[in-house]
Amino acid sequence: MTPDPNWWRQAVVYQVYPRSFADSDGDGLGDLKGVTSRVPYLRDLGIDAVWLSPFYPSALADGGYDVDDYRDVDPRLGTLADFDVMVSTLHEAGIRILVDIVANHSSNAHEWFRAALAAEVGSPERGRYIFRDGRGEHGELPPNDWPSHFGPSAWTRTLNPDGSPGQWYLHLFAPEQPDWNWDSPEVAADFITTLRFWADRGVDGFRIDAAHLLKKDLTEPYRPVPTIGVVADYPSDGSHPLADRDDIHEIYRSWRVVFDEYAPPRVAIAETAAGAERRALYARPDELGQAFDFDLLDTPWDARAMRATITKCLDGARLSGSTPTWTLSNHDIVRHPSRFALPPETDLNAWLLSGGTDPVPDLDQGRRRARAAVMLLLALPGSTYLYQGEELGLPEVADLPAEVLQDPQWFRYSGARKGRDGCRVPIPWTTSGPSFGFGSADAHLPMPSWFSEYAVERQAVEPGSMLELYRRALRLRRDLQTTETLTWHDGTGHDGTDGVVWFSRANGWHNVTNLTTDPVALPAGEIILASGPVEHGKLAGDTSVWLRTPPGQ
Ligand code: NOJ
Repeated sequence: MTPDPNWWRQAVVYQVYPRSFADSDGDGLGDLKGVTSRVPYLRDLGIDAVWLSPFYPSALADGGYDVDDYRDVDPRLGTLADFDVMVSTLHEAGIRILVDIVANHSSNAHEWFRAALAAEVGSPERGRYIFRDGRGEHGELPPNDWPSHFGPSAWTRTLNPDGSPGQWYLHLFAPEQPDWNWDSPEVAADFITTLRFWADRGVDGFRIDAAHLLKKDLTEPYRPVPTIGVVADYPSDGSHPLADRDDIHEIYRSWRVVFDEYAPPRVAIAETAAGAERRALYARPDELGQAFDFDLLDTPWDARAMRATITKCLDGARLSGSTPTWTLSNHDIVRHPSRFALPPETDLNAWLLSGGTDPVPDLDQGRRRARAAVMLLLALPGSTYLYQGEELGLPEVADLPAEVLQDPQWFRYSGARKGRDGCRVPIPWTTSGPSFGFGSADAHLPMPSWFSEYAVERQAVEPGSMLELYRRALRLRRDLQTTETLTWHDGTGHDGTDGVVWFSRANGWHNVTNLTTDPVALPAGEIILASGPVEHGKLAGDTSVWLRTPPGQ
């Protein structure tokens, strides 16, 4: 592999959610040997890197984002030796690997949290987490009314070693995910050890979970936090008590020193809920280097809105000299072929609670738009993050029965939020078998019978399949990728139609996406890829095309 330090700037990164990718030992959970066995598939797909969601020991209170031990592999997923084989197999195939670093919280089974519970109030062991006395005569009320992302309270009361009620600890997610105290030098040092541990094992970079949450201001009186998920509701000046605080950046500057000890330097990408300008701070070259842009996820299927979002993300990345990151799906959101199949005003949680029946999704529209959208994304300057199964066009499994749900949101909101399990169902490799080739037994989340139609085995030989489109687009993109600039063009040049997103790159590579339902005239150029029909020089609705013209046109 080339030692190019800038490999990440326009890379295509494929997210593997390991417990749902490939199960090598038939226990229903995907594992590392499963990932290794599918490296030829990933190579043929044409991606540059894999981002591996957490594979660490975990009781799975939050799909692995509750980490018991940051420097080991969950025995159900394999061993460190399996990890090393997976990394070298990926590298031999020319694919890099990023691992997930969950730094805001550990799990409640982490040895330091267990030590904290066993230790005295005010002890150094408690000082690694955020413990406070409760309010009320007997400390029976939480220290304040801060909410958790997974509802309702961000505080849980502990029991003292003698069984009597004790202090409360802060958890911005589930109670099984106690927040670290990032003012503790021991915590900071331990994460440096973790980064080196994985970098020494050959990982190329890190995806930083909840990167905006690490530092907190718990000075009293506590300040109100009406909504925690939407940081944009708070003044964007680093003064929020829990999110996107200015003092967080010292942490990432210290991590950069570690990244730069390696050749090429290890890379990192921040997962943040911060707005575009604040996001740029995490992406500075002396910090993480790149930050996720999630703005496209709630941009309507409308050319003006799409162009505005793209412009905002390009401008945001430019602020720090980074590149934007385009993404349509991940393990936290309803899969995009389903989102694109629903009317824009749909409340996705209510839709999931209806079992995916109200409103009825228009899956043909969802598929058309998913095809058009991925071509648009892949043609943009910057990097693209794909989520496992999107190359198969998998829709959401919206009708998972209550008894199989795993997402803590489902339990914490007492059934009022269905959660994210529907996008985490294992992916189908073959058209038959107990889990469609995922493994030799049933999968940990049930796979519906219609997954057969989406199987890799079928799509690999089916002309016009989603998999074929992804493979062709990714192969072409390798050759077409060029300088990080883009030129906008208005309308399609022939009939001045609105509703088209048309831009070109410096080498004459054009993307034209028709976001209306009517055919539009195409500009001149040689068609090199189309997501749908092009007839008599017209591009059908919900369709993208890549054209080539002489450079600069
Ligand atoms: C963001 C992760 O993507 C999500 O899956 C997880 O629940 C939270 N962070 C907490 O770690």
